Amino acid sequence: MKDYFEVSDIFSKASPVYDDKISQNKTNLIIRDIEVNTLEHYIKEFNGNLDRILEIGCGTGQEALRIMKKFDIGVDCIDISNGMLKISVNKIKNHGLSDKFRPMRLAASNLDVLKRRYKIVYSFNGALNTEPQFKKFIKSIESVLDDEGVLIFSIRNRYCISDFIYSMLKFNGRRIKERIKGDVQVPVAEFFVESRYFSYNEILNLFNSDFKLIRAYGLGIIIFPYISNFFPNGFFDNFMGKLEKSLSKVFPFNMLGDEILYVFKKR
Ligand SMILES: C[S@@+](CC[C@H](N)C(=O)[O-])C[C@H]1O[C@@H](n2cnc3c(N)ncnc32)[C@H](O)[C@@H]1O
Repeated sequence: MKDYFEVSDIFSKASPVYDDKISQNKTNLIIRDIEVNTLEHYIKEFNGNLDRILEIGCGTGQEALRIMKKFDIGVDCIDISNGMLKISVNKIKNHGLSDKFRPMRLAASNLDVLKRRYKIVYSFNGALNTEPQFKKFIKSIESVLDDEGVLIFSIRNRYCISDFIYSMLKFNGRRIKERIKGDVQVPVAEFFVESRYFSYNEILNLFNSDFKLIRAYGLGIIIFPYISNFFPNGFFDNFMGKLEKSLSKVFPFNMLGDEILYVFKKR
């Protein structure tokens, strides 16, 4: 897998068009809604007893912005890309929320340098698929997550039902093989970033000794983001969003999305 410098360079180059690309893709918007709604659910569970939460791989700060607008809490955000961080800082300043926002250039595997603990740590949309030291990241999570804390993250999955159906219809066995193997070139604007995909069982095994799984949601099950724009806009209104949201919680679909959203607590 590429090192931090190369990954951060790709994301910085993609940063000026990143928000447009995401917002033009209906599946990405449905995925983001499920992610942010889940995060909001756990924020509410702390009943106002939260000061700051931590986001890993904040990108342009879109999720942090939604949270800071809705709740009276601050968000500490880390990301390895200067370009992404710069955009997030300007965006949050334009919304008058800079006093709640603390951006830092840091990799997911180095959280221990933060020297503080959070009740909620979250990471959305594949930021962790490009972390080359994944086991070190799991260790470093332990140093920032409170004993009663919640870890919420989405990560790209090796088994995606709609990708497999699409690839079979296209007679593209190579695409299926790559996904199952877990080494995939993911498009980010007009660039590609080398990513490591993880199956449901792999994630459970990696986290099992120190964390217990609370919930897992499938994201992008019926229409994964890559094929989203092949469908007319009206196709997604209401029906597809509702279907994706209801299937996200249902076994075995919750293990068969383009990504899986995991909620873990410390053991
Ligand atoms: C696909 S974007 C997701 C951004 C945002 N969470 C969203 O959903 O729009 C991934 C972000 O994670 C950052 N990133 C990638 N690898 C990282 C790592 N190892 N540690 C911290 N940030 C990372 C990238 O720079 C990029 O901004």
